[in-house]
Formats: sequence, structure tokens, C-alpha cells
Amino acid sequence: LLWAAIGRRRKAGEPPLINGWIPFLGKALSFMKAPSTFLLSQQQKFGDVFTIHLAGRYYTFFMDPFQFVYITRNSKQLGFQEFADKMICRTFDVPSVLSTKFPEMNENLHRIYQYLQGKSLDTLSEDMMKNLQQIFERKCSQATDWEAEKMYKFCCSVMFEASFITLYGRVPAADGHKVISEIRDKFTKFDANFPYLALGIPVELLGATKKVRKELIYHFSYQNMTKWLGGSEVIQARKDLFEKYELLTVYDKAAHHFTFLWASVANTIPATFWAMYYLLRHPEALAAVRDEIDHLLQSTGQKKGPGYNIHLTREQLDNLVYLESAVNESLRMSSSSINLRLCQEDFILKLDGNQEASLRKGDFVALYPPTLHMDPEVYEDPKEYKFDRYIENGKKKTTFYKRGRKLKYFLMPFGSGSTKCPGRFFAVNEIKLFLILFATHFDAEIVENKNLGFDNNRMGLGILLPDSDIAFRYKLKSLEK
Ligand code: HEM
Repeated sequence: LLWAAIGRRRKAGEPPLINGWIPFLGKALSFMKAPSTFLLSQQQKFGDVFTIHLAGRYYTFFMDPFQFVYITRNSKQLGFQEFADKMICRTFDVPSVLSTKFPEMNENLHRIYQYLQGKSLDTLSEDMMKNLQQIFERKCSQATDWEAEKMYKFCCSVMFEASFITLYGRVPAADGHKVISEIRDKFTKFDANFPYLALGIPVELLGATKKVRKELIYHFSYQNMTKWLGGSEVIQARKDLFEKYELLTVYDKAAHHFTFLWASVANTIPATFWAMYYLLRHPEALAAVRDEIDHLLQSTGQKKGPGYNIHLTREQLDNLVYLESAVNESLRMSSSSINLRLCQEDFILKLDGNQEASLRKGDFVALYPPTLHMDPEVYEDPKEYKFDRYIENGKKKTTFYKRGRKLKYFLMPFGSGSTKCPGRFFAVNEIKLFLILFATHFDAEIVENKNLGFDNNRMGLGILLPDSDIAFRYKLKSLEK
């Protein structure tokens, strides 16, 4: 109990240990207040590898990006599934995919991620384009003169609806649009408390969250889902898989579908927001991106703007290097996903050169990419938004250096190694498609004179939300002849 209160002792070969003096909490408050600043200050004092006591658990941070590969490739001793599974079960009220009641469910679910790549990704992106186009057309009929809106709200309503229809299908009733808005509003309420659930705070202490979660899950009941039209291969494959597990209840299956919905929109919405926000804040960036899109449309003989459907192949979408660079730059600035692994046994992790670190069973190993994303040695003026940072000689730039050495990891919004986000290609396509359609349909400007910061509530958990919404206005572009 004494060690739990004041912290444990460092053993030979282990990284420097930072216990902190606050019983049980250790250094949790300093870490949560400003993780990057705190970690960089500890790195200065203790070197690139150190263990910190954070609220009863021990986290060994590896700060040197050249060390990341030793962690990501060591998936046997540095596991992920068990603790991620526990977090997912308590957050989304789903049964464990690792339970012996559901043999090989985890492996089967991972196999289904193939439907987020290759030909299935092409279909998903084409459907997303069509659905976004319809939503923008609806917006057009309202925006013949300047239309003012809050920007986060705008991105959230467009991206939620388009992603929902693309993945799960169209709700056929005349009020289908209203049903999706209802689900979105509940999702927003639930998501506001997601960080607390992820931290392990019981749902009973979080006001209406339990009720909202239940209502959200019921939206994905078998009865409702069978009515939805279209939908994606990935969701169909998940439905088919769940049917094979007799011990999964109707509620469990619905909860699984809700969990996937959360994964597919919770980061994509703020990522879309930041991509749009930075472009509107930087007219030279918006002009370059517009130019690139115009050039592509002209060269493929397509007209842009309201009433014209745009078709882009995957290759054409990939070749929009300025657009991709702008999206990557906003991901660099706004992403905050901590990469965690749990030590399965006591062992010695071999590092660069002759270095090694002795790690204890039950401790976490942590990578915190924001310190890499904001490293001035890797990215010049890291706090500045530079839309063309990921371009070199007109092509995608993928070579970044530290201490004169080429980095394998330089941009990590989607995690790393075996736990890397399976939806990352679709996510980037979705954001690109949103921006293409927005730029070809509307002129827009920010009308509120304030600079946004990040809402730190979600530090470590994905793309950060803005600390407040911001007003902008948009107007239909004149039609091309
Ligand atoms: C997992 C980020 C969009 C589906 C993850 C993880 C990260 C991440 C960091 C790994 C979590 C960890 O290692 O702790 C993002 C970001 C997105 C995005 C930044 C948008 C900008 C999407 C989309 C989908 C998706 C669009 C699906 C259509 C998933 C799933 C997992 C996951 C299913 C869990 C994978 C597993 O079972 O191991 N995402 N994601 N994500 N993501 Fe994404």
C-alpha cells in the first residue's frame, strides 16, 4: 500500500523512474495539464526513455522517434488487445471480442478491415462522393446569398450524414434525414463524455450518458438496420459475422455497430474541421488547392459547381498533392493520439546501438507523437501551418530528418504498427472529397475575429476538438458556362 501511495523503486537496468510526490496520482496532473511540455521537460532531465507514475499505473515513454520501430515491431511482448478491449467494453457497452464465448471473433473482425482497402475502398470513396454531393446540393439551395453558420457544426452535420449513409445505408422514410440528425445529436452528446469513459470513470457518474448510449445502440437494432438501403461491404460483412455468434444478443450486435460508427466519425469530423479551418485562414493555401482541383477537373473535361457531378478515380485523388499536403498538415497540428502497449512479461527491450531498457510486466509503453509533430528539428517552425510542408519538387514529400538521419515515422495521426487505424485511407479520402466539393461549390470566409485553440479534454485520444466553434459564411459560386 505504501508503494502504491508514494510510488515504487527503480530496479537495475530500468529507465529513470519519476514517481511524483502526490499519493496515488503521481505525475498525472502535470501530464494532463500539458502533456507535450511535461514530457519534453522530463526528457531534458532524464533522457529519451523514462518511466512515469500516472494515476496508479507506470508508463515508460520512448521519446526518440528512431526508437519507435523497436516498440511497434515487438507485438509479442508488447501487447495491445487486452487493455484496448477492456476500454472498448466499458465505453461502448459491448461484450469482449476476446471472450472464449466468441471464438476467433477478434481475428474475424480484423479480417473484415480488408473492406476498407483496395477495390472496396474505391467503392466506398465513390459512394461517399455521391452522398456528399447530394448534401452539398441541398446546402446550395439554401445559399444563394451569403449563408452564415458555425463551422464545426457545418462540418459535423455534413460529414456525419455522408459517412453514415455511405457506411450504413440510407434511412428510407421521408424523414430519413431527420433520423440521421437525431442520431448525430445523440452521438455528439455521447462523444462529449467519451474522454471520461475512456479514462475509466463509471458511466453512472456521467449524467445522461448511459441513457444516450443506450438510445444510440437501439438505433442500430436489427429491426432498424434491415430497413436501411444500400450501405457498405464492410458493414454487411460485420452483420454477417455477428449472425454466426449465437451467444451475441441483439443488443450486443447493435452495440458493436455503434462502436464502429464512433470509430468512423469521431476523429474524421474534427480532422475535416481543422483542414477547412486552416485553409480558410490561409488564403494562399486555399488558392493553391483550388488551382490544383480546377486543373484536374479541366484536364479530365469535367465541369465544377452546383449541378455537375464530379468523378475522380483513386489515382486522381492520390495525385492531388497540394490537397493531400494541406490535409496532412492539419492532421500534424491537431492529432494527439498516444500509442500504448502493455508489457506482457518482464523483459529487456533492445534499442538502437547497444542501448536497452528493462521493462516490467503490467507497465505501459507509450509513444506520444505530438512531440514528434512539433519537433523543430523535424519540422521548421512547427507551430506554423504550412500547407505545402509535405511537397518537394511538386511531388509528395516523404523524407524528413532528425540528427541528419531519415525518419521512418514522421506523421502518426493514425497510430502505429499492428494497431494502426484500418480506416486511414478512407478517412483521408473523405476529407479530400469534402474539401473538393466545398471548394468547387462555395466561396467562403471566416467572419469571427478570433484564433481557435484546442480543447485539451481529448489529449492522447485522437484528433483534438477546437476549444470553441467559429462563425463563417459561404455563398454559392456562379455556375460555369
Ligand atoms: C483505430 C485514428 C478514421 C476505423 C484507430 C487508431 C487511431 C485512429 C489512432 C488506433 C488506436 C490505437 O492504436 O490506440 C483515426 C483518425 C481518423 C480515423 C485520426 C480520421 C482522421 C477512421 C475511419 C474508420 C476508422 C474513417 C472507419 C471507416 C477504425 C477502427 C479502429 C481504428 C475500426 C480499431 C482498429 C482495431 O480493431 O484495432 N483510428 N481514425 N477510423 N479506426 Fe481510425
